[in-house]
Amino acid sequence: MRKIRTAVLISGRGSNMAALAQAAKSDSYPADIALVISNIPDALGLDKAKELGVPAKTIDHKQFSDRRAFETALDAALTESDIELVCCAGFMRILTPWFVNRWKNRLLNIHPSLLPKYKGLNTHQRAIDAGDKEHGCTVHYVTAELDGGATILQHALDIEGTDTADSLAQRLLPHEQDLYVEALKKVASEMLSVSRCGK
Ligand code: GAR
Repeated sequence: MRKIRTAVLISGRGSNMAALAQAAKSDSYPADIALVISNIPDALGLDKAKELGVPAKTIDHKQFSDRRAFETALDAALTESDIELVCCAGFMRILTPWFVNRWKNRLLNIHPSLLPKYKGLNTHQRAIDAGDKEHGCTVHYVTAELDGGATILQHALDIEGTDTADSLAQRLLPHEQDLYVEALKKVASEMLSVSRCGK
């Protein structure tokens, strides 16, 4: 079965990336994690990618004069590896409209909140401070508006009275991983069926 060649962009721990790479090992999963790129040279996720046998490279944004030069290198690496779909997973760089438009409808992100609530950072603390009863995570398409693209899938979780930002983040993480695996499956399956219809 043909699989959609997918890259995962990371900046840190890479647990969502590892969940995607693990799921993609199954023959019936419609995406293949063909490349991991980190903008941080010592990101833990790079070691995880190697353990999982996934090609991984660093493109350090600090080595470039501006965002556009960094993104040109990122785009070149993706194109060189024949990547069709890109998943941001804890990738902590804001992407410019130039990059986002080049990868329009082929660029996903996971965000730790029930979007449109709590775009940006510190989402767990903001949900607790607001007295919310529930929190969650969202996989969405990336557009030029920060955390503003169409939702693909969402998962909600009850906030408990004893929750801190850390406990909430920890309880949410396995749900993020499951959600991202499902969302990538959905998007890659749709891409495969469109490409079959086009033939
Ligand atoms: C995840 O919780 C993800 O939702 C969040 O960073 C963490 C990365 O964890 N992303 C954002 O906050 C994006 N704004 P991971 O490196 O273990 O996948």
